[in-house]
Amino acid sequence: MAQTYDRGAVEDVGRWREFSAGMWAWVLHKFTGWVLVGYLFTHIAVLSTAIGADPAAAPQDLYTTTLVGLEDLLVVRLLEVGLLAVAVFHMLNGIRLLFIDLGLGLERQDQSFYASLIITGAIAVASVPTFLAGV
Ligand code: HEM
Repeated sequence: MAQTYDRGAVEDVGRWREFSAGMWAWVLHKFTGWVLVGYLFTHIAVLSTAIGADPAAAPQDLYTTTLVGLEDLLVVRLLEVGLLAVAVFHMLNGIRLLFIDLGLGLERQDQSFYASLIITGAIAVASVPTFLAGV
């Protein structure tokens, strides 16, 4: 006879207080995965400004002026640091998940999640001088 559990409603967002490390890892992995998909569309939209560009017209063409205009904005530079953090976390946590799928590191899941967060934070901080250069 199968057992049933009352797990409450998933719509009850107040339940984040009960989250364990593994639940935060799941939420962050979903969030970063979908941010990367969103960025991919944005990236293609920006690159598409090069369609039909005349190389002789640079640096006044739409592609160059779009990129220079974007890179002039502080918010874009900050979003780039955020994008790097999102990508690094997704990669590190994704590799961690693949190891777990192989049965490796099962007893150290919280520690490896925290290590992913710390390495992501360190790389994001180290990238700030590069991304904010010349702002
Ligand atoms: C080294 C690079 C990457 C690794 C190791 C990786 C790893 C993974 C793994 C293991 C999962 C499944 C997690 C689970 O078991 O629930 C996953 C989910 C996902 N990944 Fe990646 N990934 C990488 C790059 C990317 C990139 C570049 C994108 C987007 C352009 C992306 C988007 C997603 C999305 C949307 C999901 C599903 C999230 C969900 O559960 O709703 N990933 N990734």
